[in-house]
Amino acid sequence: MSDKSFSPTEPSDLKAAKPAQGTLTNAQGNSVPNNQQSQSAGSRGPLLLQDHHLLERMAHFNRERVPERVVHAKGGGAYGTFTVTGDISRYTSAKLFDTVGKQCRMLARFSTVAGEKGFADTVRDPRGFSLKFYTEDGNWDMVGNNTPIFFVRDPLKFQDFIHSQKRHPQTGRRSNTMMFDYWSLRPEALHQVVYMFGDRGIPRSYRFMNGYGSHTYSLWNDAGERFWVKWHFHSQQGLQGMTEEQAGQVAAANLDYHLQDLFDAIERGENPKWKVSIQVIPEKDAETYHTNIFDLTKTVSHKDYPLIEVGEFELNENPRNYFAEIEQAAFEPSNMPRGMGASPDKVLQARLMSYADAHRYRIGINYAALPVNKAVCPVHTYHRDGQARFDGNFGDAPVYEPNSFGGPAETGPQTDEPALKIDGNADRFGYPETDEDLYAQPAELYELMGADGQARLHENFAAPLSTVPDFVRTRFVAHLYKIDERLGRGVDAEIEKAKAKPAPELSGFLGGQQTFAAQPQARQ
Ligand code: HEM
Repeated sequence: MSDKSFSPTEPSDLKAAKPAQGTLTNAQGNSVPNNQQSQSAGSRGPLLLQDHHLLERMAHFNRERVPERVVHAKGGGAYGTFTVTGDISRYTSAKLFDTVGKQCRMLARFSTVAGEKGFADTVRDPRGFSLKFYTEDGNWDMVGNNTPIFFVRDPLKFQDFIHSQKRHPQTGRRSNTMMFDYWSLRPEALHQVVYMFGDRGIPRSYRFMNGYGSHTYSLWNDAGERFWVKWHFHSQQGLQGMTEEQAGQVAAANLDYHLQDLFDAIERGENPKWKVSIQVIPEKDAETYHTNIFDLTKTVSHKDYPLIEVGEFELNENPRNYFAEIEQAAFEPSNMPRGMGASPDKVLQARLMSYADAHRYRIGINYAALPVNKAVCPVHTYHRDGQARFDGNFGDAPVYEPNSFGGPAETGPQTDEPALKIDGNADRFGYPETDEDLYAQPAELYELMGADGQARLHENFAAPLSTVPDFVRTRFVAHLYKIDERLGRGVDAEIEKAKAKPAPELSGFLGGQQTFAAQPQARQ
């Protein structure tokens, strides 16, 4: 890789010194005469309890962190502009799409999934692809990934899947064994796992990856017609990935390489762009189409439902403050203006609840009123009070509904989505999981990778698989054989090579002569 830009750079405001502007106060606006020395009883101390400036600083510091996101903790983002370039108004009454040429301000946040906030950017992991559109009819959030599919198709398995990716309870380290044990026992994950161990598993940077809504969502129009929709966001910078080796080199030099790449590109005026398109599936087709379009582990063929142009977005403005605008950004799949809707996809159904719940815990009950999350249209709710109610709390407006005193009223049936016909018993065992083909779509994906991509996939699988116990490895590789004989054989051959390879040795430590073999697990 010839890219030398992975050494850290500074934002433009750190490049030239400026004189102090304004005078220092405490949080109440009282002036601060000395911010270098605590109030001391004698030159050697002790300090005085009355030094409330010191106490305020210590107390505020202790509360600086909000809990990090339980997943997708490490990420970066920027503001941008979405422009409608294709007319989809026949599918939706959403005002955002009513005119070609219409523009809307937006925010994007990209992230890794499993690691914590300080984690290296260049790890093999899906990337989060979150978009918030500040539409005239309220916020639309698209909380997608850079993969069109996912590891689970029932939300009951999400917590187990994520625990298998996180740290081992005893060692505090991530564990290849936990990951491959889980995937081999829940093979609906295979499609996503093959995707992730392929060339798209480590993007060169956020600019060089696509985004996908992944789930089937819906659009509906004023005539009461509903269409099932898959969202696609194609990078106009092209798709570029990194090999394991390149990713390791970059991680050793710069943990925040992807954050820096996005920030610096926008500072240089090289605004990254993505094309937005949809696959549209008429409501009735879902009943007869050969694939369950509400199964998140499956894609829908572009031949059957070709892409339809919607628009383009460009990221053109870096945040001024990372905590206020990126850490406090609260994306939720349930944010959908009139004309847009969800679908029966079971995982989506759970996500409609999960995100707002996470924000209430992570940022607080009034998170939607924070500047980065606030809708640009008037917001009229009957929610009141709660911690950190930092705005006017709706003043003296009525606090219950209905009321006789001019409070906001509901908008009525013409703004509600069309009724959705549902049938079937409420059951669990009545809906066996084994009826779905788990191997056909991963096999198509494998075919698409071509010989070079397949060879890299074999190696990428072999490195971690060579470190796990035999019974886990055998069970996982048996699934690969079912996807494609060549995949199973290729990975088995690479595992033998990886096992035969001596672990790299480190020696010549400062103050000692010891040598030790770096364990493969330590690479994670
Ligand atoms: C973040 C839950 C599946 C994409 C999160 C967060 C939670 C969560 C609790 C942290 C939110 C926060 O604290 O701000 C779930 C559950 C899932 C699920 C329960 C399935 C049952 C998915 C899927 C996708 C996805 C299928 C993509 C298609 C994301 C993204 C973020 C995120 C991009 C980061 C949002 C941001 O940038 O702030 N998820 N998730 N998740 N999730 Fe999921």
